Amino acid sequence: MKGKILILDFGSQYTQLIARRVRELGVFSEIQPYNYSLKKILAAPPAGIILSGGPASTTAAGAPRVGRELFAAGIPILGICYGMQLLTRMQGGRVERSARREYGKAQLDIKAVTPLFENVPDHSTVWMSHGDSVATPAPGYHVTARSADGTIAAIENRSKNIFAVQFHPEVMHSLEGKKILANFLFAIAKTDRSWSMKNFIENETAKLREQCLGKRVVLGVSGGVDSTTLAVLLQRALAGKVTSIFVNNGLLRLDEEKEVLDNLRRRLGLKVTYINASGRFLKNLKGVAAPERKRKIIGKTFIDVFYRGLKNFDFLIQGTLYPDVIESNPVQGPSQTIKTHHNRVREVQKLERQGRIIEPFKFLFKDEVREVARLLDIPADILNRHPFPGPGLAVRILGDITPRKLAILKQADDIFISELKSSGWYEKTWQAFAVLLPVRSVGVMGDERAYGNVIALRAVTSTDGMTANWAALPAEVLDAAANRIVRQIRAVNRVAYDITSKPPATIEWE
Ligand code: XMP
Repeated sequence: MKGKILILDFGSQYTQLIARRVRELGVFSEIQPYNYSLKKILAAPPAGIILSGGPASTTAAGAPRVGRELFAAGIPILGICYGMQLLTRMQGGRVERSARREYGKAQLDIKAVTPLFENVPDHSTVWMSHGDSVATPAPGYHVTARSADGTIAAIENRSKNIFAVQFHPEVMHSLEGKKILANFLFAIAKTDRSWSMKNFIENETAKLREQCLGKRVVLGVSGGVDSTTLAVLLQRALAGKVTSIFVNNGLLRLDEEKEVLDNLRRRLGLKVTYINASGRFLKNLKGVAAPERKRKIIGKTFIDVFYRGLKNFDFLIQGTLYPDVIESNPVQGPSQTIKTHHNRVREVQKLERQGRIIEPFKFLFKDEVREVARLLDIPADILNRHPFPGPGLAVRILGDITPRKLAILKQADDIFISELKSSGWYEKTWQAFAVLLPVRSVGVMGDERAYGNVIALRAVTSTDGMTANWAALPAEVLDAAANRIVRQIRAVNRVAYDITSKPPATIEWE
């Protein structure tokens, strides 16, 4: 891709944020692990390289590093935090452990004229998060900024086109961060602004036509933003020669299948094959309580249903997004996989080896898909639907799944969502749902002692689902939801609200 920025990831929690900021500035960015082959980098040199931050210390034995030749390749480099310390140490400078960790807002004092700080005020607020710092820059480097306490905050080697900052320009709290990144992209790496969702649609349409015109193309749709947007894009690119398959796995929300079919068929004019496989999914899940087993069974049943529904097809199109791709190739190694995701089951991997999986969104972040949806005129209420996991309500019923539990959960979830919608909170949350707990609790109903089910409500705010805060819903909204749930669902006598953020919890309970 012309003018792309390569981000080498040392495991920082902010790496994806760097990629998104770069893209917001109109430049394509790609994340690869820090040990990505130098040969590959040099075969198609990016316009610039950003070395991310990371949790390790460059002074520790076995600390992650890049090949030394990277600094001699003539590619402009921006080191951030760990990246700055690494390029310092590897080129003969000194990094030392600070007496205390600097964490939070700090003042940046610019000490020299540099293209990196063009149009940035001499004093501004930046976000710091580091234990080590550069004590002596490597030969050929000089200091361009310090923080108020004198810590070296930025260095450069202008003749090599290598720049580095101790703070995190990608974090919103670094007030001039975006300008600093823009200076690196446009004044130093000289990239062009060719990354826009309008271009993406045009390029992807051309690619899909080349690869798929005249072939049998199928795609699974769920009614969510990603697959719906993909189906609309495909239908436009391939002039409607696409079969969208909507599988009802019996784990959908109340009346969701009707709503999804109406959205896809009537409102968006898509050709949809509806397969109601509820019975089969529930039969396969009978008596299964372990979360990972549930996911695996659901993924497997989904693929089986697909195969039965279509005898002949050339390509299966999936709505995989970039975070899933990055997560399957993490710095920490595959052992860090926390939950098995639906679109990476063995059957899909087999199709992948045969070259029959196409994932047009595999370089997009969620907010970019939303932008594509907007450009394709997908109505706002479809676009703003909360994400819903592939395994559906199965991961919201803790323990085994029965039709009775499903009925209870569907009703509770529907009440909660309707209260959120009527109070205007649905749009303010990333996701909200009810969870049915595998315990019962004592209560009084009328004059009688009741031993009933417990529902937990969960609502979170987030920008990408990678991290999330619990949503501080007003007491009236929670009160109204809880009251209706215990009044309208006989089996439930207690409602709890989940106030953990991610991390350490995940958004879903399983
Ligand atoms: P967690 O629970 O990992 O969820 O914090 C992050 C986001 O991913 C969704 N999620 C899934 N989506 N298949 C999916 O398609 C899955 O197996 C799955 N598990 C979690 C979750 O709803 C949240 O938006």
